[in-house]
Amino acid sequence: MEPPSLVPNILDPTAPNAQDVCPGYKASNLENTASGFTADLTLAGPACNVYGNDIADLALTVEYQTKNRLSVKILPKYIVPSNYTEYILDGSLTPEPTADGSTTAEDSDLTFTWTNTPSFQFKVTRTSDGEELWNTYGCVIVFEDQFLEMPTSMVPNYNVYGLAENIHDFRLGNNYTQTFWAADSGNPIDGNLYGTHPFYLETRYDNASSSSTSHGVYARNAHGQDWLLRADNITYRTIGGSFDMYFLSGDTPKQVIKQYQEIVGLPVMQMYWTFGFHQCRWGYQNWTVLQDVVDGYANAGIQLEVIWTDIDYMDQYRDFTNGAMNFPVPAGQEFLAKLHAAGQHYVPIVDSNIYAENPDNSSDVYEPFQRGSAMNAFIRNPDTEDFYYGDNWPGFSVWADYLVPQGQDFWTFELVDYHERIPYDGIWIDLSEPSSFCVGSCGDGRLEENPVHPPFILPGEPGNLELVFPEDFEITNASEAASASSALYTQTRVTTTASAAASSTSMAVFMRTKPTPGVRNLNFPPYVINNLFEGHSLLKNTVAPNATHNDEFNTTEYAVHNLFGHQIVNATYHGLLSVFPGRRPFVIGRSTFSGSGTVTGHWGGDNNSRWGSLYLSIAQAFTFSMAGIPMFGTDACGFSGNTDEELCNRWMQVNAFFPFYRNHNVKATIDQEAYRWASVAEATRTVMNIRYALLPYMYTLFYQANTMGETVLRALQ
Ligand code: NOJ
Repeated sequence: MEPPSLVPNILDPTAPNAQDVCPGYKASNLENTASGFTADLTLAGPACNVYGNDIADLALTVEYQTKNRLSVKILPKYIVPSNYTEYILDGSLTPEPTADGSTTAEDSDLTFTWTNTPSFQFKVTRTSDGEELWNTYGCVIVFEDQFLEMPTSMVPNYNVYGLAENIHDFRLGNNYTQTFWAADSGNPIDGNLYGTHPFYLETRYDNASSSSTSHGVYARNAHGQDWLLRADNITYRTIGGSFDMYFLSGDTPKQVIKQYQEIVGLPVMQMYWTFGFHQCRWGYQNWTVLQDVVDGYANAGIQLEVIWTDIDYMDQYRDFTNGAMNFPVPAGQEFLAKLHAAGQHYVPIVDSNIYAENPDNSSDVYEPFQRGSAMNAFIRNPDTEDFYYGDNWPGFSVWADYLVPQGQDFWTFELVDYHERIPYDGIWIDLSEPSSFCVGSCGDGRLEENPVHPPFILPGEPGNLELVFPEDFEITNASEAASASSALYTQTRVTTTASAAASSTSMAVFMRTKPTPGVRNLNFPPYVINNLFEGHSLLKNTVAPNATHNDEFNTTEYAVHNLFGHQIVNATYHGLLSVFPGRRPFVIGRSTFSGSGTVTGHWGGDNNSRWGSLYLSIAQAFTFSMAGIPMFGTDACGFSGNTDEELCNRWMQVNAFFPFYRNHNVKATIDQEAYRWASVAEATRTVMNIRYALLPYMYTLFYQANTMGETVLRALQ
């Protein structure tokens, strides 16, 4: 069932402008504190209730936290446990910076000024040169239970970088909207995709003196967001949470990035071997093929450090299992013994979903599901007394709940247990937006149909999918078809998405819900962010916003959707500490949040085997460098579609200078290992010699990132 189509607010000509209709706030009851002041903010006129219910009473805290960092927090004055996570992003999820205890307004490099005329407005300036870094004068602040808005005026032709994750030029420009709603969406140009990093760096160049100044803004909020970058202003909008803003005075780019990383946590240190070259692909059929690839590299004289497997290795796409026919455990142990003896390493994919057993089939045994169920370690459906059942590769599935300790316990146990069978060296976390192929808890009352087929047609199949699937799909060429179809599926989804975005205004049905007093509409909030999927609903391709966690606050996905990917890499990192006590965990994750760099690296996701994708990957790498995730690389030679000799050649060369260097490819496309073409092999050997000669330098840069917040891949200034 498809959700209703919506018109994103920024494309809706009938949508009211909150700036025209909302009254703003008045400040009163100022009280000085050791490092700033607090005040009450009270609604300055009749509520506008434009995209939610106005919160009449707010609390403002201005804190000079360090010489270079000013914090401005605006929260509801009255927060009770039942709405805690609607407004508060707990420090256990991503660090909440605090004051150093010694900085005061007098010795800060930032100055906060404000007025109550006609309503509360403020400016943040850099004290040393008077530059205005943030300025809400002329605008109202809007704070509702499902909509917050704060605009700032900007200098003409401003230069803003960051707001990862995006597929866009490095300089974001003055006519761009960055949406944050983690999406399993390939690499859409200008659309939301996997990561949420609400931090930007602005640089102002003075050509006359050939100098520049830079500052940073971090809006600590995990809810769905639109950042509207326009000609002379930026408007920051979220569908929940609070204003939890940090202004960083810089004033060089390097200092801004360091000041940001000091807030979210310094990047994790990597093991040296992870800087070697990695080979992966979707479609390695068995251990023998994997050995052929390892041998192919050796025979070509190209140093291969790590071999990876995609979902092909699993039994029916279930995490922590191996297909008995193609990837049996005993043969895997032999393969890995030989690999390890040669000093090489192995990384398997682990998907974010956990297959839910078929209750009517006693032979459908999947122990991770049994163990997690017994621990109550999965996200719940608020409309039933049961777990939330979405859909992914294995069929109807559940997702671990990392907001409660049993989520971590469950995950750690599975990682340790699997390692006892298959001694892997690191973990690749996929589909962590989290991706679901259906709308809502579609497995309710249907688990006896499991393992259901993914909801798209497999190539070569007649109309009736159930004739060939799921029986034995792993050992017939239906498995080829399944994977090929998923490749097709990825490609189809990318195409559909792009065309939907292009024609969204003409196709869409208007469905802007009206705010209801005392009620929040989680699945269809009144403000429609510009989620890129066709129909733009928050329900598309993910776990629904009303899915509920087991914590004391019954936190909903609405509040923490953008954090799932962060939590699973965090849980994986900590699980790996149990697998390999005393060793640095190696984790590569798809969806990330501010602070994820403390536990994971990231690959750029499903790019295309096109020159444009190679070009844009460089900007993507820079934004991740700024975001504190230096262990970044893209699928060398391109993921979707067939690569070609020249493209693969150049990609192997460019990525040799990215910290994470991995060749990866979708199923049902031509082989693209570096040894497949003589010219690519030659170019790779040459560039790899340069890379390996530079590795001590790169390792040192990682050390400096890890201890001082420096960057590894750096844009020229
Ligand atoms: C999506 C991932 O982004 C891609 O790298 C992977 O090959 C497929 N899922 C299949 O697991």
